[in-house]
Amino acid sequence: MSIKKIAPTLVAAAVATALTACQAQETKTGSAAASGKSTAAKTAQAGPPPLAPLGPPPIPPDNKNTPEKVELGKILFFDARLGGDASTGCSTCHEPDQGWAWAEDFSRGYPGTVHWRNSQTIINSAYYGRNFWAGSVPSLEKQAPSAAKGGVAGNGENDIMEARLALIPEYRKRFMEVYGTEWPLIGDAWGAIAAFERTLVQRDTPLDKYLQGDKSALNEQQVKGMALFNGKAGCIQCHNGALASDQDYHNIGVPPNKRWEEDGLAQVTFRFEQYAKGQTEENYRKAKSDWGFYYRGKNKWDRGKFRTPSLRYTAYTAPYMHNGVFYTMEEVVDFYNRGGFDEDGRTTAFPENKSKLIRPLGLTDEEKEDLVAFLEAFSGEEILMEKPKMPAYAPLFTKAELEAAQEAK
Ligand code: HEC
Ligand code: HEC
Repeated sequence: MSIKKIAPTLVAAAVATALTACQAQETKTGSAAASGKSTAAKTAQAGPPPLAPLGPPPIPPDNKNTPEKVELGKILFFDARLGGDASTGCSTCHEPDQGWAWAEDFSRGYPGTVHWRNSQTIINSAYYGRNFWAGSVPSLEKQAPSAAKGGVAGNGENDIMEARLALIPEYRKRFMEVYGTEWPLIGDAWGAIAAFERTLVQRDTPLDKYLQGDKSALNEQQVKGMALFNGKAGCIQCHNGALASDQDYHNIGVPPNKRWEEDGLAQVTFRFEQYAKGQTEENYRKAKSDWGFYYRGKNKWDRGKFRTPSLRYTAYTAPYMHNGVFYTMEEVVDFYNRGGFDEDGRTTAFPENKSKLIRPLGLTDEEKEDLVAFLEAFSGEEILMEKPKMPAYAPLFTKAELEAAQEAK
């Protein structure tokens, strides 16, 4: 299809029609899905949901947000004692001044390890139906323990972490206030952290303002970039709706990170993850890249697919992609413009699964600049926060109390 030749006003509609057809094909994940013509025709009329202002995040009925719970969750988020050796807590890899993420391709890991994926921002994580790059957990409540206990993340142990909380009087007081329990329960700690994360949202970006009617919120170049986003560049097909994510899984051609070949520590984690995620022995040996969504259902057509990330707050979250291979938005746009290839011509290890929606775009240099300018409108002011004061340990009993108990025996 040659979208370049179509008049700009028609481009959006044309792209939506042609490409939603591909999208329908893709969600069925097999080439045989092309036969589903009638479904494709139906969805083609609707097109992808347009970009929209972001509303408040959903709050699960069984974990209501209260100011006391959010404050408790905040302290716990910054408390590295929720981890193995009390060095690596949530904020260690989700630093407020690094976009609530970690500004390297791979996240830092538990001491002695490096992670194998790029640290995701906490900002707006409350909107996703499933968390992580491959959507492996269904909620923030389930995400927190998997992070605190995961071998290359927090590497903590439930009983130890719970015992630490019990020996911190301020936590005992706060858990009692929020949950009415005499001793802090580790499961409640995850709930409080999730409640805190649901307050880390950004809904007042230039794009939100523009979509709410303030036409001065975007400059001329950004408005041109938005037309490209919705039209010629086709970004809207996956980065759509209020979150700028269809929350679906696609292989867009991101090449493997070279560190897996060159860096011993990265190799250790890479192999460990293949094993931990249940690869067969043969695949464990031959894997050279992150298989992404595959690990969940073990379907070969899911190799190399990852959840479409939101584009919100990305001004602060470089580097980009599940393995952080691109450090700037310009690189990302060049990658898409080449049809999912990096500057050395590298692409996904699973080209057979590469999305049909990813193809050379034919953007001019000026159009690429317009698009990058528009992408900046997905971010508002940087959200910064001081680390709260960490409450101290205290023994459960004084020496005198212990001696008195001894004598009473
Ligand atoms: C050692 C670094 C590290 C630590 C410690 C860590 N994280 Fe993460 N976090 C990551 C990485 C890397 C990812 C992406 C992992 C993946 O997709 O496999 C991530 C992903 C997430 C996500 C998913 C966001 C999304 O868009 O779906 C949330 C939420 C999150 N972390 C919260 C936490 C919380 C809460 C804690 C503490 C209990 C924590 N993290 C501890 C590195 C870390
Ligand atoms: C076929 C669906 C699809 C289309 C079309 C698409 N994207 Fe993406 N985008 C994704 C997926 C999936 C990822 C994550 C891929 C990965 O990590 O391997 C992603 C990642 C990104 C990221 C990195 C965000 C982060 O937090 O790391 C940016 C920026 C981005 N896309 C911008 C764009 C732009 C600009 C366009 C249009 C030129 C576009 N995308 C078109 C699906 C798509």
